[in-house]
Amino acid sequence: MNVLLLFCLVGAANALYKQWIPDTNYENKTNWDKEEVPCGNDIVKFSAQRKVSVFVETTHAVQEMKLPVDGEFILNSGAGFYVVAGQDPGCGAGVTTQFKDSESLQWFNPALWQAAAALDDLQRGNFLFSVHEESVPCQYDDVVFKARSSFRVDTSSSQSSIPVKSVSVLGKMFDSQPEFSQYVSSRSGRLQFHGPSAVTVGKPGCGDPSGCDCGNSVNHQRICGTPLLPLGHCCDVCGAIATIHYAAAFNLQSYRQRIHHLFLVLPKYKSIQLGMSKVFKSQRFMGIIPFGTSPEIQVVILDGEKGKQSEALARDIVKDARSHGSTLGITGAEFEASSGSSSGQSGGSAGMVVGVVFGILIIIAFIIIMVLLIHKGVVQMPSLPPLPSLSSLKRHSDVGELGGPLDHGYDNPMFDKPSLMPEVPGLYVTETNNSISLTQTGVHFINPVYDENETDFNA
Ligand SMILES: *[C@@H]1O[C@H](CO)[C@@H](O)[C@H](O)[C@H]1NC(C)=O
Repeated sequence: MNVLLLFCLVGAANALYKQWIPDTNYENKTNWDKEEVPCGNDIVKFSAQRKVSVFVETTHAVQEMKLPVDGEFILNSGAGFYVVAGQDPGCGAGVTTQFKDSESLQWFNPALWQAAAALDDLQRGNFLFSVHEESVPCQYDDVVFKARSSFRVDTSSSQSSIPVKSVSVLGKMFDSQPEFSQYVSSRSGRLQFHGPSAVTVGKPGCGDPSGCDCGNSVNHQRICGTPLLPLGHCCDVCGAIATIHYAAAFNLQSYRQRIHHLFLVLPKYKSIQLGMSKVFKSQRFMGIIPFGTSPEIQVVILDGEKGKQSEALARDIVKDARSHGSTLGITGAEFEASSGSSSGQSGGSAGMVVGVVFGILIIIAFIIIMVLLIHKGVVQMPSLPPLPSLSSLKRHSDVGELGGPLDHGYDNPMFDKPSLMPEVPGLYVTETNNSISLTQTGVHFINPVYDENETDFNA
């Protein structure tokens, strides 16, 4: 299946069409254990215990047919079965062929869906790339089961319902819940949707110009089963992730178009797959204690050429976001590439700045309280050992010098390797170059965010 890139979402909201790929059609070879549609000399077998709904497009000759206890054929007009008297000349020696089991096909399997910006694009094969979590229908998406197709989907979920905007089955679109639940409880409906959770329709589309949260992270385990790197994707990717921090003026749809027109049309980015979505990243107080989430736009960029092009594109996107941020409603941007390189922080690192400021305030408050308590005699100062005399120092130096090279606390691998940093000067402007030295305590601490090495890359 060829996944094409198409980011001209003209007129469409930020919702997408997600189409279920597998079918249980009689005419689909892949549904038969012999990988061939049975013909007049063949014995056709459906497992007795299996429930299945099978769409039949045309007429078929069979030798014999073993039917399941519960199941149905959906016959296209003019479709049907007939038995050939004697031998069917166009058919081989005759085999027993069994209809494959479709019991285990899960709604939350990202490999079983394809996405497009419009219904036309689904038909034309202009599919969109997305992270795994968003390959599965999001709550504001339109779900499509192919028009001339039957299917069977297991709707097991970690929630009791799977909300979506609409569901199309056999060419009929359902966007009102009473009507859809009536269909699902019908005979066909029960054969097509099985599992403990119910698909529900009627969710409004995404009305937020900056995009909407897909809502599938509650089913992350089901979708992936393995830890991930980009939010919403299942496994580490060879490529790059750009993060865009946005303000009220930001519009996801026009930003997608901008990236398409500026970069994706360029021949050098031909092999790129790019997915853009709003995600909620957890914020950490001083980089450790989580205190909530903040929405941001995640741009996942993949390419087949060892990530070289994706890194270049990520760099272009960050550069563009930083130079035109004020008109685009972007407050900051940065990227990380699987090769290990990344951009410095900018603008959007407000959370980090706040964290550092708070940290300093807490330390100052602690010192003031300690001083007050000591002053009031609540806390006793421990009696300090007498300062070592010059002679004792000498003795120690015979044993071995303490100290050695100045301890810088810890190294941040991301910023301490100038060789990994971008070579283009002027691209990665940092706003501050502070380092914190608490020399009274003898601790020299360099804030990794504003490591001095970064000054090398300032304009
Ligand atoms: C047959 O089924 C396979 C897998 O379920 C699917 O990928 C393919 O598109 C189907 N073929 C047709 C002609 O619909």
